[in-house]
Amino acid sequence: MERTLIIFKPDAVQRGLCGEILTRFEKKGLQIVGMKFMQISRQLAQTHYEPHKGKPFYDGLVNFMTSSPVVVLALAGKDAIAIARKMMGKTFGSQAESGTIRGDFGVSNSFNLIHGSDAPESATRELGLFFKPEELIDWKPAIASWVYDLSKGTPE
Ligand code: RTP
Ligand code: MG
Repeated sequence: MERTLIIFKPDAVQRGLCGEILTRFEKKGLQIVGMKFMQISRQLAQTHYEPHKGKPFYDGLVNFMTSSPVVVLALAGKDAIAIARKMMGKTFGSQAESGTIRGDFGVSNSFNLIHGSDAPESATRELGLFFKPEELIDWKPAIASWVYDLSKGTPE
């Protein structure tokens, strides 16, 4: 099972959209393995978005991510990274498809509601930034055998 780091950004929290967005992931079948409500420090925001350092939007992005509290989630599932990215939609709210989180709940390009890791390496790095190992809980959902076909031993 793959894990991904999701952040409900300050605009999602301020607009009261956390429940709606979390419900989509739960209904899809992705499993919560870590969750916290927090204020991101400047240092943490800078480190998290380090790959974008030097780009014109970097300073604004760090300001935005530290402007108000966020909800940070670790989600697990087969192909969880790609599935979450697909559910989020394109980066800019103005371009994101209807049916996606960004497409359904926002119009802004900067205030785009949600972050999701974009690859296994970034997921590992980002999960390590936001969660201590003991905060990520390996648990067996009672419904696992109905979310996945486990008849061959691996989730299908
Ligand atoms: P995220 O990292 O937040 O999940 O978003 P993403 O992968 O869809 O997009 P990414 O390219 O990683 O950009 C990170 C965040 O920077 C802001 N951004 N602004 N004005 C611009 O051209 C621009 N490009 C990116 C967005 O807030 C984006 O989520
Ligand atoms: Mg990104």
